Amino acid sequence: MFAFGGGKGGVGKSFLSSNVGIYLARRGLRVAVIDADLGGANLHTFMGMELPRTTLADFIAHKAQNIGDILVRTPVENLWLGAGVVKDLAAPNFKHSQKQRMIRSFRHLDFDAVLLDLGAGTSYNVLDFFAAADCGILVTLPEPTAVENCYRFLKSSFFRHLRNEEKDGRVKGMLDFAMTGEEPMRGPLEFIGQVAAIDRAKARQFADELEYFRVALIVNQVRSAEDRAIAPAISGALKRFYGFNVRPLGDIAYDDSIWLSVRQRQPIMAGRVETIAARDTAAVGKAIYGMVHEFRAMR
Ligand SMILES: Nc1ncnc2c1ncn2[C@@H]1O[C@H](COP(=O)(O)OP(=O)(O)OP(=O)(O)O)[C@@H](O)[C@H]1O
Ligand SMILES: [Mg+2]
Repeated sequence: MFAFGGGKGGVGKSFLSSNVGIYLARRGLRVAVIDADLGGANLHTFMGMELPRTTLADFIAHKAQNIGDILVRTPVENLWLGAGVVKDLAAPNFKHSQKQRMIRSFRHLDFDAVLLDLGAGTSYNVLDFFAAADCGILVTLPEPTAVENCYRFLKSSFFRHLRNEEKDGRVKGMLDFAMTGEEPMRGPLEFIGQVAAIDRAKARQFADELEYFRVALIVNQVRSAEDRAIAPAISGALKRFYGFNVRPLGDIAYDDSIWLSVRQRQPIMAGRVETIAARDTAAVGKAIYGMVHEFRAMR
C-alpha cells in the first residue's frame, strides 16, 4: 500500500496517484486506486469517469463491509477505483474507530498495489493514512513553502504513528507536546534524544521505527535544472536533520499537457505517452513498480 500525501493542496497528489495507477496496471499489476481525500473526492474525474454508484461513503455508512465491495472497474484493464466521499459529510465526524476499520480494510485488499490519494492538510485522518502505508509518498513542488509543508507533514505523520502505538502515558504526553507544544516542533532525532534520557529501551525502539519508516519523494512541476536538484537536497536534509530515509522517485516537469488532460478527462498515461510529463510519470511509475516487487520479496 502506497499513500500519496504531503500537506499542501494542489501539488499533484491526485494526478500522480491516478496516473501511476494506470502505469502499474498497464505493466500487468492488479491495482486499486482509492480516493482517501475525505474532504473533496475527485479521483474519478482524474480517471475520466463519472462518480460511481458505490463509493467509500457506503463503506463508512456500513452499507458495504469491505472496501473491496465498493471498488469499480475503470476503463483501464487491471485497474480498479475506490471512489471518494463527495459531500464533506464524513470528514468532521469521522471517528477513530471508523478510521481504524478503514485502514484494516485497505490492508486486506487483495491487489498487487493499492494506491491511496490523500487530501491536503495535516488532519489526523491524512497523517494516519500516510503512516499506515507500506510507503508514504510525499508530493511537493519546488517552492520553499511547499517544501516546508512537506517537512512538517512528515514529522507530524511520524509522531502520530508513534503516538497511535504508544501505551506509556508519560511518553504519550511527550509526543503530544512535541506535536502541539508552543515551541516549534522538534525533529525525531532530537525527540528520541530526549526520550533516551528517561527510557533507553523506548528510545531504541523509536530509533528503529524511524529507520523503517519508509518514505519516498516526488517533486512535481519542475521547470529548470535547479528544480531538478531539489529532490536530492530535500532527502539529504531530511536525513541529516531529522533522520528520515527518504527515497527520491523522480521529478515531474511542469507541462500544460497535464492540466489539459485533466480538463479533457483523458489521463495522460492512458493515451499517447510521448509528452515530457508522461515520460516523467512513467519513470516515477517504474520506480514504484520496483518497490512493489521489493516489498513482495520482503514479505
Ligand atoms: N506537472 C504538472 N504540470 C502542470 N499542471 C499540473 C502538474 N501537476 C498537476 N497539475 C495541475 O494541478 C492541478 C492540481 O493537481 P491535483 O488535483 O493532482 O493536486 P492535489 O495535490 O491532488 O490537490 P488537492 O490537495 O486539492 O487534492 C491539476 O488540475 C493539474 O491540472
Ligand atoms: Mg487531490
